Amino acid sequence: MSDSSSNAMWGGRFAAGPDAIMEAINASIGFDKRLAAQDIAGSRAHAAMLAAQGILRDSDAEAIREGLLTVLSEIESGSFEFSTALEDIHMNVESRLKEIVGEPAGRLHTARSRNDQVATDFRLWTRDQIDAAIGGVEALIRALLVQAEAGADWVMPGFTHLQTAQPVTWGHHMMAYVEMFSRDLSRFKDARARMNESPLGAAALAGTSFPIDRHMTAEALGFDRPMANSLDAVSARDFALEFLSNASICAMHLSRFAEELVIWSSAQFRFVTLSDRFSTGSSIMPQKKNPDAAELIRAKIGRIFGANVALMMVMKGLPLAYSKDMQEDKEQVFDAADNLMLALAAMEGMVKDMSANRPQLAAAAGSGFSTATDLADWLVRVLDMPFRDAHHVTGSLVALAESKNCDLPDLTLEDMKSVHDAITDEVFGVLGVDNSVASRMSYGGTAPEQVRAQVARWKEVLG
Ligand code: ARG
Repeated sequence: MSDSSSNAMWGGRFAAGPDAIMEAINASIGFDKRLAAQDIAGSRAHAAMLAAQGILRDSDAEAIREGLLTVLSEIESGSFEFSTALEDIHMNVESRLKEIVGEPAGRLHTARSRNDQVATDFRLWTRDQIDAAIGGVEALIRALLVQAEAGADWVMPGFTHLQTAQPVTWGHHMMAYVEMFSRDLSRFKDARARMNESPLGAAALAGTSFPIDRHMTAEALGFDRPMANSLDAVSARDFALEFLSNASICAMHLSRFAEELVIWSSAQFRFVTLSDRFSTGSSIMPQKKNPDAAELIRAKIGRIFGANVALMMVMKGLPLAYSKDMQEDKEQVFDAADNLMLALAAMEGMVKDMSANRPQLAAAAGSGFSTATDLADWLVRVLDMPFRDAHHVTGSLVALAESKNCDLPDLTLEDMKSVHDAITDEVFGVLGVDNSVASRMSYGGTAPEQVRAQVARWKEVLG
């Protein structure tokens, strides 16, 4: 006879209950309670299918499905008492169902195992998170488009090596992030299409001898089809890894943008003013307004990428099919998803609220000899100089301006001619930053016209 404290769900062959340490290392209810809604949806679909296949009496299936709704409302209202002794969400729900509907509850687990059950629940949960990520990225892209449209012709310095390179437009810079985030969007969409298959009915690992209909449960749960191999169905976690790696790349993009906002909002740059709503003060320095949201977004990549690596490590040595190691998948994905959504929402809020400091951007755009390339291009175009020679002549002009402590447009025609006497005053037309950006009409270039065309294209794509 089993001891009264052995597990009611699987304790038949056990004489005693688990040690407290065993219970502590084994139980997942502390975190997998987040799968409650998915677990109940999966069980309702399973019960309906068992009845449709004549495996379960209709009256039992009905009692189970009604009872599961009661359990769900208890969980949602907070009145449900979770038990660590019952290990996980699956057994907590089933045990409560037994209290509510009695004997039929014991028939729910026919032709099913916790292995396909948890794989199903976790897929459903991750699918919801992918949808949330898609929504969050789209909202961020919309906010970027508003900034890009408003500032399609606002000049600012473009950098390489964080050194002034060539003037670009604010809109062009915003649209660079639109492109990056749109690739994140498509990665999430691709992952969703790949992962949307149902493990339910794979049972423990080998399938079942009951005449189940896996297509029916797949359809009821919004999956495109059942997974084709029962061993794979219970042991695959690449769907979670794909979510984590996509989340990592997206968080990396968020982090790069956050870094720019930190730099741009500094007193040295003053390119943007972040709103009070997304900044904090210092407890000792009254003048401070800190870009904490941006800094925290910048840091989120650490834990998200950490989750990706952690789950990769959990999975890499596991033989088929299920091993309890896989219970360690959830906390990583939960934490990464929570923080990705938070970072996306915070970035959207910051982008919506931030204001570009146009005069400062324009002043910075013209400094640092940012139109030197325009000057070299002019020498090529108008004086038919080989680009390498033009580069050299321009370099001499930059050195001259530097020695006179002025910018290129401040040089006189005589200064120019002292370096190369064929230069005419027409050259001054290309030294202004507005002309510089307007001339960059190559496809994908920074010209306001190009930027506006890209904004229009993206508005149409997003609808
Ligand atoms: N809590 C478990 C997990 O998250 C559920 C599956 C348990 N399966 C088993 N064969 N013990 O992985």
